[in-house]
Amino acid sequence: MSTRPAPGKLRLPELGEMKRRADKIVMVTAYDAPAALLADEAGVELILVGDTAAMVMLGHESTVPVTLDEMIFLTRAVTRAARRPLVIGDLPFGTYEVSDEQAVTSAIRLVKEGGADVVKLEGAGRMVSRVRAIAESNIGVMAHVGLTPQSATKLGGFRAQGRTADAALKLHEDALALEDAGAFALVLEAVPAPVAARITESLAIPTIGIGAGADCDGQVLVWHDLLGLYQGTTPRFVKRYADLADEIGSALGEYVADVRSGAFPEEQHTYTIPDEELARFEEALRAS
Ligand code: KIV
Repeated sequence: MSTRPAPGKLRLPELGEMKRRADKIVMVTAYDAPAALLADEAGVELILVGDTAAMVMLGHESTVPVTLDEMIFLTRAVTRAARRPLVIGDLPFGTYEVSDEQAVTSAIRLVKEGGADVVKLEGAGRMVSRVRAIAESNIGVMAHVGLTPQSATKLGGFRAQGRTADAALKLHEDALALEDAGAFALVLEAVPAPVAARITESLAIPTIGIGAGADCDGQVLVWHDLLGLYQGTTPRFVKRYADLADEIGSALGEYVADVRSGAFPEEQHTYTIPDEELARFEEALRAS
């Protein structure tokens, strides 16, 4: 496996340097090539091909059903277009829980077949050993604690985590263990801002917050949430920067009306044929 980054690609150590310089890291999810190109042009550092694809792309009700093959397919599309941002392939549920070997095998597939630069997995506890195994296989691995959607049922639903002193201490301990295991960064999801700030201060690696306040080293949002493309309910931590579902809905409505009324296509949308060729064509049809 090549360890040399593509020309122009952000170097992984740059993320740690950004933390030390207090430069914020910007991460967004993307699931296809056009989105990756736009994210790259906007200057984001990290693109996550998240397992949220299960919900926002594939129509599932949770992130659990998406398969590794589906994640590889989506990751491949993103990595074809993303030049500078590091592309993070998300390990879906069921592809790393069984053993360290399973985790390394799945991570290798995301890198080799999907073209991911690095991978991400959820959880601490037994997952610390998975992070260590992947990092020792020379694959960069991002950890994710707090609200971990793959285990939402066990957590009692999609709810904020670390809201008691004991739970906050446990999160802090998990974060240190994941850093020690070799994670290059840590996503903190739905964690009270002061707890996330304290964890961020304790770690040398960057934290990327989603619903974890402004003191994380970076922020991530889901593409469809940020652009108003997802019409389901969104968590309180989402800031919507556009309402593209409305815009797309009205554009499609106009298209439907134009086709039905004959207003589309117009002259400029059609091709011509020289008069003599058309005459020959009609003549040939008549003769046949
Ligand atoms: O899968 C995903 O999109 C994520 C983000 C919410 C961090 O894990």
